[in-house]
Amino acid sequence: MALNPTDLFDIRSLLTDEERMIQDAVAENELEARHSLEYAMSIEMIHAKLFKKALEDPKGQQQTAYYICPVCGNTTEGKPPKKCPYCGVDEKEFVEVT
Ligand SMILES: [Fe+2]
Repeated sequence: MALNPTDLFDIRSLLTDEERMIQDAVAENELEARHSLEYAMSIEMIHAKLFKKALEDPKGQQQTAYYICPVCGNTTEGKPPKKCPYCGVDEKEFVEVT
């Protein structure tokens, strides 16, 4: 599947929506919702950076293993963390994607 540079714009729009939802959660004193949204926003930024990197190598000549947390979607390159910094899942639960 070809990567489309306009998809990066959509990710930025998503971040703006999440920022608004975080502001709403703060205004409504919904701390748990705020933390979940902040984690989701952090993970979306990780995804945006990986997407941008993929756009720079559209033919995928630089082979990299990615590991995805099955709970929160946190994605890392090379190897998974001992525990997911966002949801605490053990490294053994991460799913490898190449
Ligand atoms: Fe996670």
